[in-house]
Amino acid sequence: MMNVAIMGYGTIGSGVAEILEKNKDTIAKTVGQEVALKYVLDLREFPGSPIEDKLIHDFSVVEQDQDVQIVVETMGGLNPAYPFVKACLLAGKHVATSNKALVAAHGTELLEIAREKEVNFFFEASVGGGIPIIRPLYRCLMGEQIEEITGVLNGTTNFILTKMDKDGWSFDAALKEAQHLGYAERNPEADVEGHDTCRKIAILTAMATGKEVNYEDIYTEGITQITDVDFLYADKIGMSIKLVGASRIAADGMVSAYVVPLMITKEHPLYMVSDVFNGILVKGNMLGTSMYYGSGAGKLPTASAVVADIIDAAKHVSRNVKMGWTAQKQEIAPMGANQFRYFIRVAGAPEERIAELMAFGPREVITLAKLDEFAIISRPMLEAEFKEEAAKIDGILKVIRTEL
Ligand code: HSE
Repeated sequence: MMNVAIMGYGTIGSGVAEILEKNKDTIAKTVGQEVALKYVLDLREFPGSPIEDKLIHDFSVVEQDQDVQIVVETMGGLNPAYPFVKACLLAGKHVATSNKALVAAHGTELLEIAREKEVNFFFEASVGGGIPIIRPLYRCLMGEQIEEITGVLNGTTNFILTKMDKDGWSFDAALKEAQHLGYAERNPEADVEGHDTCRKIAILTAMATGKEVNYEDIYTEGITQITDVDFLYADKIGMSIKLVGASRIAADGMVSAYVVPLMITKEHPLYMVSDVFNGILVKGNMLGTSMYYGSGAGKLPTASAVVADIIDAAKHVSRNVKMGWTAQKQEIAPMGANQFRYFIRVAGAPEERIAELMAFGPREVITLAKLDEFAIISRPMLEAEFKEEAAKIDGILKVIRTEL
């Protein structure tokens, strides 16, 4: 029998306990032996809950129990998740986590310890919730050079943007509903300011390059500046706005990566990725583009990915599965070197101002009734050039990058 301890009985941790119980026969059949939940570590009490008799408050019980082979970390945040996970790996236990902040900040060290100790540090649930994306990168796509990853990677912001776009909801009402449904991070800023997406694209980029990616090197903009008027314009030209995390890996190894709200057309494969769903496009040099789609957040979808990691650890209980990245640093190109077209809202009337905007080689002029403003979509421009030209123009009300 394999014994599991869950650290953190919140939304995801309780989902893991539920799946281990509900699917225990299937799991036992896959692993070849029973996988049992032995402890749940949490500061809180859960009277009347099914795990009441497994609840402990002292981490050293998990760390010191030789019969616990696999530990699940679903606490979130870095403290105490980081010291606890590190101690578990050093104690020779496998760890499965859903915590992208932990993986993005300390993944290099934790992967290294796991290799030394011949155990596994798995984090399928840290990106894309229940969507398989980490394992496809190191298993199914292992013969590919990955050239591009582009994803809608945050369920909360996608839920908010979809509600604003399709149902006219306010930003605040949509955020509240996402929190109520258990999609949001503990601190909603992590979702709406793009930090969660930034950590996820950092993890995916590190998986693709095999090198450490510092998430602080990734240019990140969230969705707090996106308004109903932006969606009115987007709607008029058959586009939508998605929070996208992307990385581009050139043949010479140069990497660009960023997180931005992006205006995309109906033809873009991410256009139909709505509500809490995530979608991730991966372009390999042989396969071309493949897409991974599904529930990007929420209790059972995310817990399902954690359970898959538990099973993988149980099936490789005495060896480290080669995956992840090394301590070699991956350089990220400056944002100014990336190319976009730009949706630009300008105060005034087009006939009075269009001459000033020629540097943007506008491809399209868009007007909305009853507004003393208009919008253009620029020619493809390097971000550095765009910034230089935009600084010369008064009355720019909003800029949103658009696909090329
Ligand atoms: N807050 C995250 C999201 C949870 O909304 O996508 C899943 O990582």
